[in-house]
Amino acid sequence: MKYSRIVGIGSYLPEKVWRNDDLRALMDTSDEWIQQRTGIKQRHWVDQDSTEGTSDLALKAAVGALESAGVAKEELDLIVVATVSPDHEFPGTACFLQAKLGVSGIPALDVRQQCTGFLYAISIADQFIRTGTYKKVLVVGAEIHSRGLDKTTEGRDMSVLFGDGAGAVVMVATDDPNSSRVLSTHLHADGRFAKELWIPAPSNAGPGPRITEEHVRSGAIYGKMNGKSVFVHAAKRMPEAVNEALAANGFSLSDIDLFVFHQANLRINEMVAKQLGIPEEKVFNTIDRFANTTAATIPLGLHEALRVGKLKPGMLVATAAFGSGFTWGSALIRW
Ligand code: COA
Repeated sequence: MKYSRIVGIGSYLPEKVWRNDDLRALMDTSDEWIQQRTGIKQRHWVDQDSTEGTSDLALKAAVGALESAGVAKEELDLIVVATVSPDHEFPGTACFLQAKLGVSGIPALDVRQQCTGFLYAISIADQFIRTGTYKKVLVVGAEIHSRGLDKTTEGRDMSVLFGDGAGAVVMVATDDPNSSRVLSTHLHADGRFAKELWIPAPSNAGPGPRITEEHVRSGAIYGKMNGKSVFVHAAKRMPEAVNEALAANGFSLSDIDLFVFHQANLRINEMVAKQLGIPEEKVFNTIDRFANTTAATIPLGLHEALRVGKLKPGMLVATAAFGSGFTWGSALIRW
């Protein structure tokens, strides 16, 4: 039997910080409104005049992960990048990252599963490792939201929520079931809710060309969200996903040392913790500082928890995410 072990982790956040009050220069909002409803105090956004792309953020996180793993880039067998904000519509951001890393030839795969993207990505890596196909896989979650947000009052319900950032892990094969490893991943989706949180355009579903002046004029190029629906479903699905992981592994909630949930809204995570009945000190949140970085929230959270000493070797870590699609899932990791 093969298992996958996370042996390295890295992350990167753009330098420029936008506090809630800074957003008032762009839109009609307030620190009080944002903090009360979401717990967000600030977010990192790339310099909008720079040419920094999602693959650049991914590269910085990936280099950090490889260094901390002591794995040379030439040893990698596969690159998986989860993102909803690719450098370009095609080819995938994993290809741009692969070129920047300088490891041509190995497969490079994009995962477009939104806020659950990182869990889908490590699950894919885990399956390739378990079957013995690959031994060393780089998995990255990276987003640049700031270039795609409507930063006017009209788009404020969405634009205050999102930040830019990247996180990466290196996963390697191990034969030892008792070593630190990914114990399980569970993935779900319900496409009936696809339009509860989505970007209408560019669209190959017509009518007409995939991008039109009307798309731009009407704001169809910006994300649309039914915030209340997202909130309600997230608060239900994330506890379900955690319980599914526990049942599959024969653990109970008290066995978990640390919960690192997706960071969409602090109020959602508070509700998830309440429903599960888990103590606050076991939940590690970063949303106040990083906002929602979609596919990057979980690796960013794991890395930050490690950095501040909340995550230690041997700990049992439960992660869960919910997002657009709707998609949701969990991963249980012996760190
Ligand atoms: N600043 C100030 N006011 C704002 C605002 C902002 N950034 N965004 C919206 N408002 C206003 C609205 O215009 C509305 O005003 P009105 O009552 O005069 O019409 C009012 O605040 C309430 O808006 P509403 O959308 O009902 O707020 P809410 O209590 O549902 O909270 C969210 C909105 C987005 C915070 C909440 O629904 C949420 O967090 N949902 C989940 C979102 C999520 O997780 N998304 C990512 C998915 S992975």
